Amino acid sequence: MGSHSATRPLAAGRSGPLTGRMRVPGDKSISHRSLMLGALAVGTTTIDGLLEGDDVLNTAAAMRALGATIVKDGDGRWHVTGVGVGGLLEPTGVIDFGNAGTGVRLCMGLVASQPIAVTFTGDASLVKRPMGRVLDPLRQMGAEVLARSGDRLPLTLRGAATPMPVTYRVPMASAQVKSAVLLAGLGTPGVTTVVEPVFTRDHTERMLEGFGAAIGIETAPDGVRTIRLEGRPELKPQAITVPSDPSSAAFPIVAATIVPGSDVVVEGVLMNPARIGLIDTLLEMGADIEVVESRETGGERLADLRVRSAALKGVTVPASRAPSMIDEYPILAVAAATAHGETRMQGLEEMRVKESDRLSAVADGLKINGVDCTEGPDWLVVRGGSVPGGGRVATHLDHRIAMSFLILGFVAKAPVTVDDAAMIATSFPTFQPLMAGAGAVFLPAGDDDA
Ligand code: S3P
Repeated sequence: MGSHSATRPLAAGRSGPLTGRMRVPGDKSISHRSLMLGALAVGTTTIDGLLEGDDVLNTAAAMRALGATIVKDGDGRWHVTGVGVGGLLEPTGVIDFGNAGTGVRLCMGLVASQPIAVTFTGDASLVKRPMGRVLDPLRQMGAEVLARSGDRLPLTLRGAATPMPVTYRVPMASAQVKSAVLLAGLGTPGVTTVVEPVFTRDHTERMLEGFGAAIGIETAPDGVRTIRLEGRPELKPQAITVPSDPSSAAFPIVAATIVPGSDVVVEGVLMNPARIGLIDTLLEMGADIEVVESRETGGERLADLRVRSAALKGVTVPASRAPSMIDEYPILAVAAATAHGETRMQGLEEMRVKESDRLSAVADGLKINGVDCTEGPDWLVVRGGSVPGGGRVATHLDHRIAMSFLILGFVAKAPVTVDDAAMIATSFPTFQPLMAGAGAVFLPAGDDDA
């Protein structure tokens, strides 16, 4: 599995107007979950529009190693034949999730309530990321963990032979933690309860319901959600169409907003309310984003978005919005670098435990390209204006840092270089051809980068 691809430096330069229609790949969160729930259903689930990025392909390989049969047909449709809840097999080898935090954390949930032992590892980014946030509740359910260093990968998880249902209050805004507990609840007799003080993406809940699990959700007047899942259901196979990923759409949306004269339509974007904080923020900054068509499919709203360039002004982004745009702050910071005035972003503590410490990576990348910004423990202030560029950005194995700074290059006076564009393949393998097709300028990175 793909943890050790070669690094690929790349630069981007000042670009003319971006134009045309484009479709970004399928949503990463929904793609992971489609494969996992398909692997637990009785029968064959079909998936159209699966994101074929490295992260999701690692999840497909993991589900195969756990006993599911997964094939892709000549029309690009994926077929997942599940083993039934409780039917996962103990894999013979180590499961390497590469760069994929969602993949490994959700898979740990699946394993926690099955009497099997699984050894997980990942790439140089994933082995640094905290796993205690999912292991704590999974231990309460009866799983045992053997880790080499703290609660970090590589580690072996031995699922509980007699798992116990828990009531777990998620201590940080994390859909991965919520989802790991719910997935462990599938194999657990009785009712598993997750209390979620802050609303995060709800794809797991929606899909569990779609696959026929008995799941109930109550939202208190103060917004606290209580999710109750009845364990050991028989999941029914589904026909899934994965909508376009709003976290990938964010890149062409911001690029078209900041490159003068642009007019781009991004098609079929998932508009789940827990995912569209960036669009709200860009609109407050003065962006010109129009919903040209909106439709509903598989319980989710999708939209075609027409984006024309616009002059932006700085805003204060409230901490309460962070969960609905947590992956979008790097590209928002790029938009803010071109805006008139100051943009203040707050409540960013979770950014520090993503594929990289994204708060530092963003601040360092902006500074090295002449953009004035200040980084705090959980906040960032960017003072916008014209962008000198000319810097080489350290991406720390983080796809979103790479894409964000290439887009900064489209509006900078001198080209912006990223030290490694290879990781873009984890979530948005078609990023470069799609953007180049719209008129973006990519340049080979200089000789010193070889
Ligand atoms: C995801 C949840 C978020 C997000 C990640 C995908 C998911 O992570 O950053 O890219 O699919 O559940 P956290 O749960 O750590 O906030």
